Amino acid sequence: MCPKFELTMQIPPYLVNEHYDDRYFDVVNAIEEAKHIFFRGTGIIDILSTAGQGRKEFRIGETGFGAGRLLIALMDFLDNCGITDIAIIYNSVELHPVTSERMASILEGFRTETGQLIDLLVRNYSRVEISRPGWHQIQLTRPFGTLTLNLWIGEALEMVQALTIPCDTWFLDGHGPKKNPSIWRRELLMAIGEKTVPGGTCATYTVAGAVRRGLIAAGFSVEQRPGFGGKKSVLKGLKL
Ligand SMILES: C[S@@+](CC[C@H](N)C(=O)[O-])C[C@H]1O[C@@H](n2cnc3c(N)ncnc32)[C@H](O)[C@@H]1O
Repeated sequence: MCPKFELTMQIPPYLVNEHYDDRYFDVVNAIEEAKHIFFRGTGIIDILSTAGQGRKEFRIGETGFGAGRLLIALMDFLDNCGITDIAIIYNSVELHPVTSERMASILEGFRTETGQLIDLLVRNYSRVEISRPGWHQIQLTRPFGTLTLNLWIGEALEMVQALTIPCDTWFLDGHGPKKNPSIWRRELLMAIGEKTVPGGTCATYTVAGAVRRGLIAAGFSVEQRPGFGGKKSVLKGLKL
């Protein structure tokens, strides 16, 4: 059986991004996978809990907003980690935005754990004019503080170039490099490196050689960490 046929046989079509013939995320463990790869991987809890009184803002960049699963997982994670009074600035980008109805369908599998967060995001996202390119903003109040989603509708490089303040960490979540080489291209990774604070971090699920080399060229030291679910290893980067 060819892999494409196998994929469409097993996964409901609305979970597959038709532009890349690839799933939005691991269907079974995506919330836990996000926590393992992206939140523990980038060390954000250590940074936030040792931040002290002076540190109020934490800036995150994400390549590939998709259905907002990482954002849901992040809010769930931070709501339950005991940190308060922090302002998360979440800069993300999406070239092919889904409708709010499709977002709700894609996230439906996590309703038992994160139903209220899904409703909150879908309600706010439904007011975003997704046919208009450029920045859109959603502001949310959470137990940990505030979360500002700055969502760029358009191409990832444009969004990175439009950032005026560098990020503390990056979640690189834009489909696998074989399915979508554009989001791993050298020019984009270099721009991400330039928009990362010294000592900042990045994480991704792919350990492909081209991605590792691209991140190193962009100024990150990279380290393979144990993976999650079906993934043997994942990647963490530290901006030198
Ligand atoms: C794996 S999915 C993202 C999953 C998402 N982080 C989530 O947790 O729901 C990758 C997303 O990146 C978007 N994408 C791919 N290439 C892009 C590009 N060059 N610029 C902007 N978005 C892109 C795709 O349309 C897709 O929605």
